[in-house]
Parts: sequence; structure tokens; C-alpha cells
Amino acid sequence: MDAATYLKTQLSLALQAAFGAEYAEADPMLVPASNPQFGDYQANVAMGLVKKLGQSPRLIAQQVVDKLDVSAVCVPPNIAGPGFINFLLAPDYLAGEIRSIHQDPRLGVAKISQPQKIVVDFSSPNIAKEMHVGHLRSTIIGDCIAKVLEFRGHNVLRLNHVGDWGTQFGMLICYLQEVYPSALDTADALDIGDLVTFYKQAKIRFDEDEAFQTAARQKVVELQAGEELTIKAWKLLCEQSRREFQVIYDRLGVTLTERGESFYNPYLAETVAELDALQLVEVSEGAKCVFTEGFTNREGDPLPLIIQKSDGGYNYATTDLAAVRYRIRQDQADRVIYITDAGQGNHFAQFFQVANKAKWIPASTEIIHVPFGLVQGDDGKRLKTRSGDNVKLKELLDEAVDRARQDLTQRLAAEERSETLEFIENAAQTTGLGAVKYADLSQNRLSNYIFSFDKMLALQGNTAPYMLYAYVRVQGIGRKGNIDWNAVQTTKVVLTEGSEQVLAKHLLQFDTTLAELERDLYPNRLCQYLFELSQKFNQFFDRCPVLTASAEIKVSRLILCDLTARTLKLGLDLLGIEVLDRM
Ligand code: ARG
Repeated sequence: MDAATYLKTQLSLALQAAFGAEYAEADPMLVPASNPQFGDYQANVAMGLVKKLGQSPRLIAQQVVDKLDVSAVCVPPNIAGPGFINFLLAPDYLAGEIRSIHQDPRLGVAKISQPQKIVVDFSSPNIAKEMHVGHLRSTIIGDCIAKVLEFRGHNVLRLNHVGDWGTQFGMLICYLQEVYPSALDTADALDIGDLVTFYKQAKIRFDEDEAFQTAARQKVVELQAGEELTIKAWKLLCEQSRREFQVIYDRLGVTLTERGESFYNPYLAETVAELDALQLVEVSEGAKCVFTEGFTNREGDPLPLIIQKSDGGYNYATTDLAAVRYRIRQDQADRVIYITDAGQGNHFAQFFQVANKAKWIPASTEIIHVPFGLVQGDDGKRLKTRSGDNVKLKELLDEAVDRARQDLTQRLAAEERSETLEFIENAAQTTGLGAVKYADLSQNRLSNYIFSFDKMLALQGNTAPYMLYAYVRVQGIGRKGNIDWNAVQTTKVVLTEGSEQVLAKHLLQFDTTLAELERDLYPNRLCQYLFELSQKFNQFFDRCPVLTASAEIKVSRLILCDLTARTLKLGLDLLGIEVLDRM
């Protein structure tokens, strides 16, 4: 049991002992201390009971403390101000906990006792369109959330809900047949090249030629009817996109199961029919709609969710309704998490409402949209290249790695170190990609952030390089002292210095940090935790000699070093970032 839970239990017992059984449910109002000077935790329960007990808060606090036994974890509590009860964790308790997480390969993070089936819907770019920085954000945030849930022991289904269906395919297929007439007869997949350019050219062709438009519309009908050659062309286009997306996923080390929009085609009609049978559907201007509460257009009129257009076609919302129904009925999901830009907030809120009206979401199931803000350029506008084009993700990642390589070679020259090309390449890749991911994850995802290579690659501050460097520092100690980390063991850890205790307390918070992330889905909390860990480690390391300390102290300090490194490594791994032994 962690210290906070233990303190709450003991406080509750003391309250009952002091004031009677009816105080069993009283909230002890335990919070982390606002200032480390006061200790680690503070109970504000006395203030809350003044009215009920008709006594002064100090007197109440005193009676609680008289009945309180927390000696297992704390030094004797004191009462401060009007009646706050302050708790300071005892060094012996900390030392014992440190020793136990040191021996635990999971660093004190227990596996969940009742794993859930969780769908994480993330990345989800659109076929033949640009995979843009928004999709990159979704990919990075989604991968982190999925990793944390997996580490906690949940059964996670990582779904790539790619946009692989829609009327744009009519135009694309017509154009494909025009420019690559042989495309459909060749056995092998052909290389169409850059699909985004292909899309633009097809669009130009579409806009300038009416006959082409008619042909494109006819193609949509053929596609929906499953006409063989048309389906073949569609598959070709998807395959080409898939290869391009995969390059990015491989570089980022992200795995996803592709289950695109087209997967749900067989379920669209029955989804609409079911809503119809529940009498939720109204026909408005020929389109089938579900009216929802709280959504209005600019004129203030109610804005329905269209689920079948007047031409009989289905849309993004229909697919999402069919998908959520499938995820709950077939995948048996307990939690469905959607990671997209905040701009889609209304879409999710609206179809969630429809799914709830249809009673598709059991009370025990949570469906949740995890929105994020924009990636901005220096000018505060949506990130673009100088010429105003969308930034190509491959180029963005390449540039991060190039800059990391430059920084590294300069530093090596300044330190008169010579390293192999292989070392430099590996360090540059890890630092560059890590920096991009960390810069994204360390922001509160709800806010927009300004993309800056300089900031994300800085060795100081809340950056990936700073974190990697703290890890390297520990490895350096190991090399210098010839330490076999697996052999570092003791029967008793001792923590005498303030900076040791501060570091120890922080190491013990890892579990809580991950539990919070699991619940609230904010990766920046983990980044903040790791940043503070690096800072606290650096303070400890500046103040406390490790290798030159006496045998008993040395082993305890080595344990703190080892725990710091393992926590950094695991924490960064959950962010999708690798570590380096040297940099
Ligand atoms: N393809 C969409 C886009 O690029 C994102 C899909 C998100 N997932 C979903 N189930 N709607 O904006």
C-alpha cells in the first residue's frame, strides 16, 4: 500500500476512535503538502469538522493525532496553523520502499488486477492525402497512451482508422486508368510515386473536365457495387498509401492494426436501420438525420447528425457509428479512446450522443475523445513550409535527425572526442526522433504548441536530450566504478541526506504518475515526472559523492542511481523514446 492510502486508512480509524463510528465515512482530506517544508502530506480534516463538532479546529486536530498511529511510515505528525496535520515520511520507511522497488522489475508499478479490453483509435491518416503533423501528433500521443495501458496490463487494440473510402476514389480511379492504363493488368503492385501529387493532378483533371466528372461519379457507383476492376484499382491506391505511411511508422517505431473505414461498409445499412427502428431517425431535406441536443448551426437552429445523405450515400459519422457499435459488440471493448485534433470535438460529442441514445454503450463502458491542439510555426499559425506547403513528415523527421547530428559532432569536436560513424548515426537518430516525440508529449495536449527544432534539441530544459543525458550520467558512473548493476544489492538501504530523500520520494511516485496517466490520458504528466526526476537526480549527484562514499552509503547511493536510470529508461520507453548509454 502506498503511503497516501495508508495514511488515509489510519486517519479514518483515528477519526472513529476519537469521535465515534459515524465518522467512518468522513473524508480525511489528505493532500500532498503544498510546501516540502511542511512535510509530504497534509490532512485538512479538522477544518471540515468544525461545524459538526462545534470545537476549534486545533482541538479537533489534537484529538485525531492522539488516536493516530502512523509510525510505520511517518515521523510523529505535527499540527500547524489553525489545525492542519502535517506528515513527514520517515527515512527508514523510504529506505525500505526504495529497496523493495529496486528488486522489482516493474519498479513498483503493479499490474492491474482486472484488465480491460481497450481500443485506442489513433494516427488514422487518409488514403491518397497527406499524412500531416496532426496525424503525427495523433500517432505519438496514441502510441504513448497505448503503451502505458499495455504496461498496466490491459488488453489494447491499436486501431488505425484510415480514411480509405469515400467519393474521392471515383476521381482517383478514373485518373489512374487514364495515366496508367496498364495498371490494372499488371500482376504486381505498381509504384504510382507520390500519391499527394497524384491526388492534386487528379483534382485538376476533375475540375476542368465535365466528362471526367461524370465518369468519376460512375466509378463511385461501381466501387460501391464491388465491381472487380474498380475494386482492384482502389486496392492499388490503398496499397501505395500504406507503403508510404509504413515508412513513417517504422521510423517512429509505432505499430498499428489497420482497420480502415471500408471495413465497416457491410455494417452501415444495418446501423442506420437499427437507429431507424429505435425511431431516432428523421428525414430532413431528403437526408436521414438524428437530432441531438446542444448542437446548433450559425443561425442557432438545431444541427442534426446526418447519417445517410439524400443520394443514399453514407458518411464519416455513419462509419463512426458502425465502428463504435462493432467495437463494443464484436471487440467487447470496455473503453474506446479516440485521439484526434480538437477540431473534431463536435463530431465525437455528437455521434457519442447518438450511440448513447441508441443504448449501444453499456454503463460499464467508456467512450472518450482525447483531443489535442495545433502544431504551430514561429508565426503562431498552423505549421507550414516557407513556401506555404504542408510540411512533409519524412522531411521533418530527417531535419530533426540532421540537426541532432550537427549538435553532436560539434560537441564531440569541442570535447576532442572521436567516435565511430555508427555511434554518431545511432545517437543522432535516437536524439532527433526522441526530441520530436518529447516536444509533443511534454505539452499539455489541449494546448497548441510552437514547433521549434532549437528548443526541442536543447541539452537544458524539459527536453529529450536533457533526459537522455541524465540516463547517460548514471551509465558513466557505472563505467567509472566498474559497476555490475545486477550485483548491486543490500539488506538495508540508508538515506541520510536531504537530496537522497527528495530523490527517493520522487522515485516512489512513478506508480501514481502512471495510474494518473491511465485514468486521465495526459502524457505530459509523465514527461513532467521524468523531468523532475532528472533534476532531482542531478541535485543528488552534485551533492552526494557515490563511488567514493563508505561501503554502506555507496551501495545505497548506487541503488538510487540504478533506480533513476531504470525509471528513466522505462518512462522514456513508454513515451516511445529509446535511451543511449553514451552521448
Ligand atoms: N481520418 C480522420 C482524419 O484524418 C481521423 C479519424 C479518426 N478516427 C475516427 N474514428 N474518426 O481526420
